[in-house]
Amino acid sequence: MIDILMKYIHILAFMVVFTVIFMEMILIKATSSSRDVLLVKRYQKILWGFLLLTLLSGLFKLVTMGEHASIYMKNGVFHVKFTLFLIIALLTLLPYRFFRKLTLQGEADDKIAIPRSVRLVLHIQMLLLVLLPLLGVMMVRGIGYFG
Ligand code: HEM
Repeated sequence: MIDILMKYIHILAFMVVFTVIFMEMILIKATSSSRDVLLVKRYQKILWGFLLLTLLSGLFKLVTMGEHASIYMKNGVFHVKFTLFLIIALLTLLPYRFFRKLTLQGEADDKIAIPRSVRLVLHIQMLLLVLLPLLGVMMVRGIGYFG
């Protein structure tokens, strides 16, 4: 039962990560309104929490698998999935730092210029994120095993 629950949490946490990054992509343009930027500032905090939950639920699965975890240690697809996940998490730092430093004053409709790099990072994250469920399903099927 706990096994099913952890799998569920793993997928659910991913869905929140996906939704948050998707929303950020929609709200963040070359110039966005203060209102939208404020929303994204809040989303950034949610994102960290659910990235962590995705990681912890994945690690939990590995730890509770005992010796069977070695199957995944010898699976190239698992390593690609884990590396992409880390890249996505690290890329989060750039928009996070930009929005954290930004102080919002004035009207909700004020326009704020967003650097191209921040928008680019969000698009790269989205692109990588779309690959992860596929890699997850592949590795569970044993694809990429090199042992
Ligand atoms: C956003 C990132 C991630 C996504 C979208 C994702 C997605 C998935 C999917 C779709 C499955 C297959 C479930 C199934 O068909 O049974 C899976 C399984 C698994 N994931 Fe992830 N995953 C992510 C991150 C991680 C991370 C960071 C770890 C860290 C260790 C991890 C560890 C695992 C493990 C161990 C399984 C195997 C479960 C089993 O054999 O029962 N995942 N993941």
